[in-house]
Amino acid sequence: MPILPGMPPGARPLRFYFAEAHVARMIKKSFILESTLHTTPPEQAMDANPAPRDRPPACRVALVGFGTVGRAVAKILCERSDGLLHLTHICNRNVERKKQPWVPSDVIWTEDFQTILKSDADIVIELIGGLHPAENLVRGALQAGKSVVTANKQLIARHGPDLLQLASANGCQLEFGASVAGGVPVLPALRTGLCGDRLHGIAGILNGTCNYILSRIETVRIPFSEALEEAQARGYAEADASEDLDGGDARAKLSILALAGLHVRVSPEEIRARTIRPVDAVDFDYAAELGCTIRQISRADLKATTLFADVGPSLVPASSPFGRVQRNLNLVLTSGEYGGDMAFLGAGAGGDPTAVAVVSDLMAVAESFAAGPRPRRALQFASPKVSCDFETPWYLRFLVKDQPGIIAGLAAILSAHQLNIDAVLQKPGFDKAALPFVITLEPCRDAQLHPALQEMSALPFALKPCLCLPILR
Ligand SMILES: NC(=O)c1ccc[n+]([C@@H]2O[C@H](COP(=O)([O-])OP(=O)(O)OC[C@H]3O[C@@H](n4cnc5c(N)ncnc54)[C@H](OP(=O)(O)O)[C@@H]3O)[C@@H](O)[C@H]2O)c1
Repeated sequence: MPILPGMPPGARPLRFYFAEAHVARMIKKSFILESTLHTTPPEQAMDANPAPRDRPPACRVALVGFGTVGRAVAKILCERSDGLLHLTHICNRNVERKKQPWVPSDVIWTEDFQTILKSDADIVIELIGGLHPAENLVRGALQAGKSVVTANKQLIARHGPDLLQLASANGCQLEFGASVAGGVPVLPALRTGLCGDRLHGIAGILNGTCNYILSRIETVRIPFSEALEEAQARGYAEADASEDLDGGDARAKLSILALAGLHVRVSPEEIRARTIRPVDAVDFDYAAELGCTIRQISRADLKATTLFADVGPSLVPASSPFGRVQRNLNLVLTSGEYGGDMAFLGAGAGGDPTAVAVVSDLMAVAESFAAGPRPRRALQFASPKVSCDFETPWYLRFLVKDQPGIIAGLAAILSAHQLNIDAVLQKPGFDKAALPFVITLEPCRDAQLHPALQEMSALPFALKPCLCLPILR
C-alpha cells in the first residue's frame, strides 16, 4: 500500500482505489473467463454456462432522459450482449429529434412518462436531472414496483432518505451511484464495500469546475476571472457557474456521501458553503510559502451527535493527495474506525464515465433480481446537529492601503479574542495602495474567529473583507 507524500510520519497508509485500476481488473477478469471458455472441453463448458433456457430473462430497462449521460447509457446497453439487461423504452420531451439509427427497432420511443410507468419495465433510469418532474417520475416508478437508477444529485440530496424508504416499502431498489463523483465508484463502495466499517469522516474534491479553476490559477498564476473564462470556453464551467463556484453543487454531493457513508440525514442547506471567487493568484504565492496549495474541499466529520460539515476553499499541503489533484478530477477520502483511510480518484463527470456508473448500478439491481427476493431491511438515518465549527489553523489574507500601525491594530483585535498569531507573511513588490499580506493563526474554532474577522474588516485601512481559509494538515 502506498505511503503518499505529505502524510505525517507514522500515519496509516491510504488504500487507493483508482477507477482506472478497477476497469483494468474487470478487463483482466473477463479475459480470464473468456480464455477459460475457449480452452474448456465442450461438456465442461456446458456445465460452466447454463443453457439459454435456464438463464433468468433479461431485466427490462426503460431510460428517461436522452441527453449527455442518457445517450451514453443507451449506447452501452445497445452494444452489450450478455443478456442481463434489455433496453425497452427511451423517453424524452420532443422525442422525434432524439431518434438514433443505432438504437434497435424494438425499442419504443416516447415522450409520455405514463407509458414508462405502465410498461413492463423492471427498472427505470432517470436521467433528466433537476427536481421537477424527476421527483414525481421516480416516486411513480417506485410506487409501481419498479426499481430506479438515477444520477440526479439534487433529487437524492433533498429526497434520498424518503425515496430509499419508499423503495424499500415497495420491495424495489433505488441506486444512485453516479450522483457523486460521476465515474468514480465511491458511492457503491460506501454502500457495500465499506459498509462493514464504521465511517466517521469523509472529505473530497467533489466539484471538477472549481478544481479546474484553482489548479489553473496555481500552475499559470492567472487571475480568478481569467481562469473562469478559460473553464467556460473549454466547457468545464457553465455560463452561470454560481452553483459550482459558490459551493452549492459540492454541498449537495457531500450530503449524499454523508447519507450513504455516515447514515445521516442532512439537507444541503444545512451545510455551510463558502465561495472560491475571492481566491486569487497571490493566495497561491502565500500558500506556497506555507508548503500548501488551495483546493475546494468538502468535509464531513461525525462526532457523537454532531455532524461537522463545510464546503469551501482550503489550504492543503501541496504534496498531499488533495494538493496533487489537478484539472477536473475528483478525489474522495474516507476514514473508518476499523479499516482506516481509503481514497477514490477519477473522472467526476463526462457522459461515458457517468454512464459506466449508471450501467454498473443497473447490473447490481439485475443481479439482485436474479438472486430472488430478500427480507426488507428497516432503513434508519440519524438526524444530527450540523455545525461548521471545526477547530483548525487559519490563513487570513488582507488587502490594505498601507499605513503605519496596521499589524498593531489587527494584533490587538486578535489578542482581545484570545487568538494566537502563528506567522505574518508579506511578499515584496506589491503596490502600497493595495497591499496583500497574510497572517496565519494557531488552531482555533470557527466560532471564536468570526467575530474577530468582522471587527478587522471594519478597520479603515481594509480595502476588502479579509479572505479567511482553513489550513487542513
Ligand atoms: N453530464 C455529466 O457529466 C453528469 C455527471 C454526473 C451526474 N450527472 C447527472 O445526470 C443527469 C443527466 O445529466 P446530463 O448531463 O445527461 O443532462 P442533459 O444533457 O441536459 O440531458 C437531460 C435530458 O433529459 C431531457 N429532459 C429534461 N427534462 C425533461 C422532461 N421534463 N421531460 C422529458 N425529457 C426531459 C432533456 O431533453 P432536451 O434535449 O429537450 O433538453 C435531455 O435530453 C443529471 O441529473 C446530472 O446531474 C451528469
